[in-house]
Amino acid sequence: MAANSAPKMINAHDFRSDFPVLQTQMNGKPLAFLDSGASAQKPQSVIDAMNVVLEGGYSNIHRGLYSISQQLTGDFEAVRAKVASFIGANSEKEIIFTRNSTESINLVAQSWGRTFLKAGDEIILTEMEHHANIVPWQLLAEQIGIEIKTIPVLEDGSLDLAAFETLLSEKTKLVSVVHISNATGVINNISKIIQLSRDFNLKIKVLIDGSQGAVHTKIDVKALDCDFYVFTGHKLYGPTGIGVLYGKYDVLESMPPYQGGGDMIERVSFDGTTFKGPPYRFEAGTPAIVEVIGLGAAIDYLENVGFEYIETHENALRDYGHERLKEIDGLKLYGTHPDKTGIFSFGVQGLHHSDIGMILDQCGVAVRAGHHCCMPLMQRFGIEGTIRASLGLYSNQSDIDQLSEGLKKAKDMLG
Ligand code: ALA
Repeated sequence: MAANSAPKMINAHDFRSDFPVLQTQMNGKPLAFLDSGASAQKPQSVIDAMNVVLEGGYSNIHRGLYSISQQLTGDFEAVRAKVASFIGANSEKEIIFTRNSTESINLVAQSWGRTFLKAGDEIILTEMEHHANIVPWQLLAEQIGIEIKTIPVLEDGSLDLAAFETLLSEKTKLVSVVHISNATGVINNISKIIQLSRDFNLKIKVLIDGSQGAVHTKIDVKALDCDFYVFTGHKLYGPTGIGVLYGKYDVLESMPPYQGGGDMIERVSFDGTTFKGPPYRFEAGTPAIVEVIGLGAAIDYLENVGFEYIETHENALRDYGHERLKEIDGLKLYGTHPDKTGIFSFGVQGLHHSDIGMILDQCGVAVRAGHHCCMPLMQRFGIEGTIRASLGLYSNQSDIDQLSEGLKKAKDMLG
């Protein structure tokens, strides 16, 4: 559908007005915020929920006998149950609060990995992983001598699943794969990857990095049958500093603590210390209390909007965006596989992505320019980086139009 024959504007209905920052300007232009893949904006309800705690009932949790501490402890634990239901976990005991997806993966690498892997064991990642799902495993490889294999990425940005099957071996102990690529928006067939792993050997553990996945699509960890699923609050319209590690309870129960400190122990003495069960065993020290409350409000907000709306709306805008980007001569899109979400990653022939990003900034358009923490994927495509425009549930057709006009301006100025 050509831009000027679009039958009607794709608006974000009333949801856009829930986000105060979207009513502001950048460099004198309406803010076209197209960097939700890096971090999403926050609705008023999330900001309010956090302020209510800070202004009217803040205390530490799990420790105070007084009323506001007990109340906040209950509210905090209610969010754990809410997260469990949001992703279809069996129990809130399978939900560990971390700082972010990165910490969730480091926790698995250092606790599960150091306990159950040994020199010569193999783990399988993909060429499209974010550095957060590469570097923790490289650190572990240096510590204990595991081998890392990678599933190749095809020209359209999807995974070569035939190659994956050839990588599976008796030595494979873990498959760790991103659900939706933050760099291209391509949606991986994680059900198939999990099934192939299970068919090969039931003992292989599977971790899914859902940093983008949990934002754009409904997750059901039980139906997926993954062992671990990780995501982060700040991309989910919630605050920074709070992430989630889902793990099957029996797997979590087999894992030792990741960090030691207060709140994760049963009893401490200089003769020895015993630990609580999951999830508390993995949550040393005072947690991100206010941020957990904000995450709960973000989940309420998302569930009110509904994933049916989010997917329909973002897919319509994705298709519109692809059409508008075709108007730009010399633009090359990375991630052309049809199973993809609203992320446009591209380069423009003869122009540097950083220069384009700076001109877009002057046009009020916020995008990310660079390698998107996916250097191996950039190497796969033989490039240094791309411009990435990523949609949120509040994005609308005007944002895309502003991007398209900004790109034309960049071409005129730099070309
Ligand atoms: N992982 C974030 C991104 O994709 C920061 O931009």
